[in-house]
Amino acid sequence: MNNNPVNIQDEVILVTGAFGLIGKQISKAFLQNGAKVVLADINVNALNAIQDEFAELFSTDNFLVTQLDITDEQSAASVVQQTADKFGKLDVLINNAAIDAKFDKDGMSKVNQSRFENYPVDLLRRSVDVNLTGTVIMTQAACKQMLTQGFGNIINVASTYSVVAPNQNLYDFGNGIENFKPIDYIASKSFIPNFTRYIATFYAVNNIRCNAIVPHGVYNNHDQKFLDNFSKMSPMGRMCNREELEGPFIFLASKASSYMTGSVMMVDGGWTAW
Ligand SMILES: NC(=O)c1ccc[n+]([C@@H]2O[C@H](COP(=O)([O-])OP(=O)(O)OC[C@H]3O[C@@H](n4cnc5c(N)ncnc54)[C@H](O)[C@@H]3O)[C@@H](O)[C@H]2O)c1
Repeated sequence: MNNNPVNIQDEVILVTGAFGLIGKQISKAFLQNGAKVVLADINVNALNAIQDEFAELFSTDNFLVTQLDITDEQSAASVVQQTADKFGKLDVLINNAAIDAKFDKDGMSKVNQSRFENYPVDLLRRSVDVNLTGTVIMTQAACKQMLTQGFGNIINVASTYSVVAPNQNLYDFGNGIENFKPIDYIASKSFIPNFTRYIATFYAVNNIRCNAIVPHGVYNNHDQKFLDNFSKMSPMGRMCNREELEGPFIFLASKASSYMTGSVMMVDGGWTAW
């Protein structure tokens, strides 16, 4: 008999950035597998649509849709409190919210701002504020609750750009315009793996685990040139289907991963393997 099954039945899972591509996908998967889910996001304009979409699929007893700004300590504390009020505990925090500044694909700006030497420092600060400081603020709020209840599990969403540099050839769209993945995303996401190890070791004695998942290149209406570039550079020759992230998240959220803490799990089709 397996004493540690991949089972998240009745686990309470708080997903930040839950209205976005990955957040929405994994929130549905958690609910389909019997968990209670708090979907929290800064995008208040999408709140009603998300509420309606989820209410069509799941009982409102099992989920909560709410507004959250991870850069705001009061907002983070409030969402943790709402979680405890509705579901009585917080088993898992998924630190998924992040911003990824889009480069100037049409070459509208006079100076190519995505080049490292030109990258605007205010955009760098904005990404650090959300992706780094916001992740810390959200984790602080969750850890207070997890310490009180005596258990917890944190899953940080990293990126391949947390561990390797971007291959800038990926962003050559063959239109004569130079595009580069800018430094802000790389700088702010590089923090995630070591933050994961920091939290894992800090709270190991308190029965709080912390691991990271490293996704890469999830299909989302990319144009053909990008898909072609990606295929050539990826060992598996393709981007990630969003459903392919469900298993890794459910595994880390479940007791099946109970001896895992401080790990950084690659879900990247082998991108970082060569
Ligand atoms: N999509 C990919 O291919 C990919 C690849 C590697 C890593 N990731 C990582 O996965 C995570 C999710 O990415 P995604 O592609 O779903 O992005 P997305 O832009 O679709 O979703 C991100 C969500 O975060 C929310 N958000 C932004 N700032 C916030 C704040 N201050 N407080 C609360 N919510 C905020 C946004 O409103 C948005 O709904 C990110 O951490 C990203 O770095 C994504």
